[in-house]
Amino acid sequence: MSVLVTGGAGYIGSVLVKLLLEKGYKVTCLDRFFFGRETLKDVIDDKNFKLIKDDIRWFDPAILGDVDAVMDLAALSNDPTGELDPEKTMAINYNGRVRVATLSKKYNVERYILASSCSIYGFHEGILNENSSTNPLTTYAKANLQAEEDILPLAAEKFTVTVLRQATVYGLSPRMRFDLAINGMTLGFFKNGKIPILKDGTQWRPFVHVKDTSKAFILAMESEKEDVGGEIFNVGSNEQNYQIFNLANLVADAVGLPFQYEWYGFPDNRSYRVSFDKIANILKFKPDYSPREGGKEVYEALKEGLVKDDLKTITVKWYKHLLEMHTYIKEVEMNGMIL
Ligand SMILES: NC(=O)c1ccc[n+]([C@@H]2O[C@H](COP(=O)([O-])OP(=O)(O)OC[C@H]3O[C@@H](n4cnc5c(N)ncnc54)[C@H](O)[C@@H]3O)[C@@H](O)[C@H]2O)c1
Repeated sequence: MSVLVTGGAGYIGSVLVKLLLEKGYKVTCLDRFFFGRETLKDVIDDKNFKLIKDDIRWFDPAILGDVDAVMDLAALSNDPTGELDPEKTMAINYNGRVRVATLSKKYNVERYILASSCSIYGFHEGILNENSSTNPLTTYAKANLQAEEDILPLAAEKFTVTVLRQATVYGLSPRMRFDLAINGMTLGFFKNGKIPILKDGTQWRPFVHVKDTSKAFILAMESEKEDVGGEIFNVGSNEQNYQIFNLANLVADAVGLPFQYEWYGFPDNRSYRVSFDKIANILKFKPDYSPREGGKEVYEALKEGLVKDDLKTITVKWYKHLLEMHTYIKEVEMNGMIL
């Protein structure tokens, strides 16, 4: 069975691709490689693996000809990045992914899985499930919701569409992200002995380990069509909903150091607690990892020098840098200068 993973060189994608290959699937990764392709160095020589450098907005659909399943992860991948250029965010995260899904159906791909996000719940009291009303507060969240709304109706007998609304992810990946809550807390602790906590710390958020969310993609693809076709699943687990202040305390405890912290940012207006009953009951999904283990593994990797916090690990800073470089190069070209 052949699987196309868009955004396969990213934080989740690079872990997912490896898992798929380990399970014996043929895997093609389509990515712009905004964070480089060395994130896939462990799998690059695998005979079942193929790399395509292209963009979901304009790739040649002929590549879908021998694909059985598409996992659509390519996107500008968080709220602050989504605001750098909202038009581009919509063009990629909404129109780009609708394009991938529409072409997948046209080219007889059997299964399509959209990487969406629990961020579409925005701010809500109470515990939210897949039928709860949504409240997307940012361009990133709105693009996710609009993509869901356009893509789900494409589901048909021969085209199984599944939406995975992932919790906030944590843990180690070849494309490391320190702009995710648990990873960022651990980095701050490692560097300054204090955990940075986004104000005011009472906000709720659900979490899932990067290997567990990758496992969920594979589970969705391997499940009976009747169970997943046209369905939305929140990806995570009920016991991994945390208030941010309590989470910070837990990370300190996991690392085994006294709890010291510092506040940053403006009070976060996003807060959501999510029910993961549906994925647990229907797909029998159960995470293998907890934030305690995630914090510990990231801390150990920092200590051993296996990961470091270069510019690329803060997604919004890296995209800002790329946009500035792009503008600079254009200006130089317009002035007739050769770089
Ligand atoms: N990491 C999380 O906590 C989280 C939570 C919920 C949902 N998600 C979603 O999961 C997906 C993967 O997230 P991630 O954390 O791995 O992000 P990431 O930024 O690490 O990876 C995204 C990948 O997509 C590629 N890409 C971006 N635009 C592209 C385009 N136009 N064409 C082709 N490739 C393009 C990038 O080069 C990158 O390799 C995203 O859709 C994200 O919104 C992530």
